[in-house]
Amino acid sequence: MRKCRIGILTGGGDCAGLNPAIKWVVKSALDGRLQRDRGIEYDILGIRDGWKGLVYADPTTPDSLKEFTVPLNQDLVRTWDRYGGTMLGTSRTNPYDPKNDRSRIALSNIEKLGLDVVIAIGGEDTLGVACKLSQDGVNVVGIPKTIDKDLPGTDYTLGFETALNVITEEVDRLRTTAGSHKRIFAVETMGRDAGWLALEGGESSGAYIILIPEYDFSMEKVNELLLEGKKTGSRYDIIVAAEGAKPVGGMQTVSSNGVDSFGHKTLGGIGEFLAAEIQKSTKLETRSVVLSHLQRGGAPCAYDRRMGRYFGIAAVDLVAKRDFGKMVSFKNGEITAVPLNVVMGKLRTVDVKTQYDIERYNGRRTILR
Ligand code: F6P
Repeated sequence: MRKCRIGILTGGGDCAGLNPAIKWVVKSALDGRLQRDRGIEYDILGIRDGWKGLVYADPTTPDSLKEFTVPLNQDLVRTWDRYGGTMLGTSRTNPYDPKNDRSRIALSNIEKLGLDVVIAIGGEDTLGVACKLSQDGVNVVGIPKTIDKDLPGTDYTLGFETALNVITEEVDRLRTTAGSHKRIFAVETMGRDAGWLALEGGESSGAYIILIPEYDFSMEKVNELLLEGKKTGSRYDIIVAAEGAKPVGGMQTVSSNGVDSFGHKTLGGIGEFLAAEIQKSTKLETRSVVLSHLQRGGAPCAYDRRMGRYFGIAAVDLVAKRDFGKMVSFKNGEITAVPLNVVMGKLRTVDVKTQYDIERYNGRRTILR
């Protein structure tokens, strides 16, 4: 039987759904029947802490090998699909960072570790690195994950559905206290420049107003909608605002200056801004809540466990077919694969024309056209 060594890593922000994907890569690659059918004997090496692991896992220094790699087997991963986060750890390390290019080290370690294939589970940054490695001759397969659901080439990214459940549960919780005190709550979600979390989280939780980065809001209009709600008897109202949303003519709010090694700024503060503006102009008592990393935490919901399983199995199918340089994807209800370089394209964001109601600042109220 031919031998094949797979390296697997998770990079970028963690989320629920990573561990199910790792588990199913391991289980399907090491499945005895499949190995016999395929005539290939796999072994799998987990790389810790994302691309950082590949930069540091130099087999000639045993300590770093121990710190940054872990051999994976079916027994070890048996229960992993029940857990959130990533058992392999993650980082936002960019080996191709122009200010500190360590791509040659990563390439040399891939060779020294004897990896025939690297499976990378990540979002635009991690899979962007995977794409560059593929252009540099490495056999790579990508699995899409990010609570932002903004990756081009796929309709689903692991972690999104669990994050929506968190938003829905937290808004449910807020409703009781908001109602008791007759308060407005501005709930800030993550999502960077994509409004999916706010839009679908707002729709799932029945928010009165939803603000997304794809459509700049007018502060006057937000206030008008709230006063209108009040007039028609609303005791309290919930606004769900994406961290990347901004007022017409304004700027995105950032919680800290500076950028990470992929050039991203840290967004945050729109909830607080809205609460202050609303209270000042309408005199309605308003509070803000930032859901922040809670959206990435907790156990994966059933959908993320299932999608992690399908993506993991499909990734091994690609490896078995030696169909490299691809990302597994969910498109029009089917698991498929697309060239990895799609992730270098424009982010997948909300289509305001068909998915957002610019009069009510909410999800659409008509579906069939
Ligand atoms: O991309 C995922 C994400 O959770 C974004 O929604 C958010 O802006 C960012 O990561 C937060 O990054 P960090 O984990 O570095 O705080």
